[in-house]
Amino acid sequence: MKDIISTLSREERLIYELRSIFEDAGYSKYRMSKFEEYDLYSKYKDFLVSENIISFTDTNGKLRALKPDVTLSIVRNTRDLPGKINKFYYDESVYRPEGGSFKEIMQTGLECIGDLGDDDMLEVLGLAVQSLRTISEDCLLCISHPGVISAAADAAGLYGQQKIRALSLIAEKNTHELKALCDAVYSDPGAAEKLIELAALSGAPDEVFDKLAEMKIVSAEVEQLRSLCKRLAELYPADILRVDLSIDCDTRYYSGIVFKGYTSGIPSAVLTGGRYDALLRRMGKSGGAIGFAVYMSMLDRFIEKPETEILNIALPKGRLGEKVLKMFEAAGFECPEALGDSRRLVFTNEKKGVSFFWVKPADVAVYVERGAADIGVCGKDIIMEHDPQVYELLDLKTGKCRMAVAGKADFADDRSRTLIVATKFDKIAADYYASAGRDIDIVHLNGSIELAPILGLSDVIVDIVETGTTLRENDLRETELIAQISARLISNKAAYEFKKDKINAVLEGLRKQVEQ
Ligand code: PRP
Repeated sequence: MKDIISTLSREERLIYELRSIFEDAGYSKYRMSKFEEYDLYSKYKDFLVSENIISFTDTNGKLRALKPDVTLSIVRNTRDLPGKINKFYYDESVYRPEGGSFKEIMQTGLECIGDLGDDDMLEVLGLAVQSLRTISEDCLLCISHPGVISAAADAAGLYGQQKIRALSLIAEKNTHELKALCDAVYSDPGAAEKLIELAALSGAPDEVFDKLAEMKIVSAEVEQLRSLCKRLAELYPADILRVDLSIDCDTRYYSGIVFKGYTSGIPSAVLTGGRYDALLRRMGKSGGAIGFAVYMSMLDRFIEKPETEILNIALPKGRLGEKVLKMFEAAGFECPEALGDSRRLVFTNEKKGVSFFWVKPADVAVYVERGAADIGVCGKDIIMEHDPQVYELLDLKTGKCRMAVAGKADFADDRSRTLIVATKFDKIAADYYASAGRDIDIVHLNGSIELAPILGLSDVIVDIVETGTTLRENDLRETELIAQISARLISNKAAYEFKKDKINAVLEGLRKQVEQ
């Protein structure tokens, strides 16, 4: 008979391996339908990754949805039994928006719900480590407690929308814009500095806890984190663990320990999880809940890489890229051949452990997000337009220009009619006018945007202005500033964890030049 195991795909085999790990730990399989009442998601939409859900009316006239999430259904159907713990695992598809459409995402995960103690948390974290090691021995589990950052944000005087903005900047490791936000709200300088330092704090548990002690940050959250890390390090190889205070610091969903898992070659977290007691409270249940999901679909994004410590850097072709390459050179990571006349696209300096490649400016973020490059440099306009899932590590303060609205000199906005906006930057234009409550119609163009109002194709344009010459020479007038733009150093999320020392060496070398 044919060997059945050998016919399974890597993903299918992994599902069975994880199933066996979860069952051995006393978890039972939770089976559910692909559909759920739409009401569940509209009621608890702040617990969802996105509010965009595929919904339809069933034959009984009831509004239903294709499941965007598994946890909500499990929590709702789990009985509240004081003193008891419910342990479930699942292999399910969820349907979430991605790239303008919806994607079926295969998740395998578990939920531990009830009267939780520290041993249960340790068990779930241990199962997360075992799941990662089943995918690859070369893996990392990053742990945090959102309460640490949340308390520091409160101390820095960030509340409401400003706090939400600060937490999202911290999740992107964007400390330069966090600093600007703290300055804008006149945060106490000492508290703001502490928050910025915490946002950038990540590394081996001992290193992080020593730093926290030095910063005199003592709290029940830090203590819980320390104790769990210590116990985990006794059970698993200690170099698998990292403490990274910036991960998932949004306290609206997670209310306790949170974690993310990475395996080498896969560009973003393959496992995410944490403690979410707040959802239980919202559903009128007692006790606590902790769980995680392994994103099986991420395994398709695996990029085989040679076992070298070479840092792959994507630079934008053209004048900006050449300027930036000189900054890398001054930071001690030179590669003179890259500036020659050659048509080659990849240039490596083995000795310095860096490899540069030239790509179209708008594509840099794609290379970095997908892990083909570890880090890269691109304009803030590209980040605003495409919202890539990357870390934004530094404002290089070069390639400065602005995103602005411009129109003919005699243009006056008539708010009784839809404004026609020509642009290459559809999302930036849509977000800007949505926040102003202005109804617009976007005409997407690929270049020479300034022609549109001149020929009556649009009322205004949303475009890059550098010197202002193109506007002046075409009798157009800049009317509104949307954002200041400059080049940013971005990093792939998994590479940031696996190549942290190298990335930090480059980051600090570049930072010195920016702060001169
Ligand atoms: C950009 C932008 C403006 C121009 C602004 O165009 O779209 O047209 O630069 O620069 P200025 O303020 O210094 O005149 P780009 O050169 O990228 O060409 P494009 O028209 O193809 O977009």
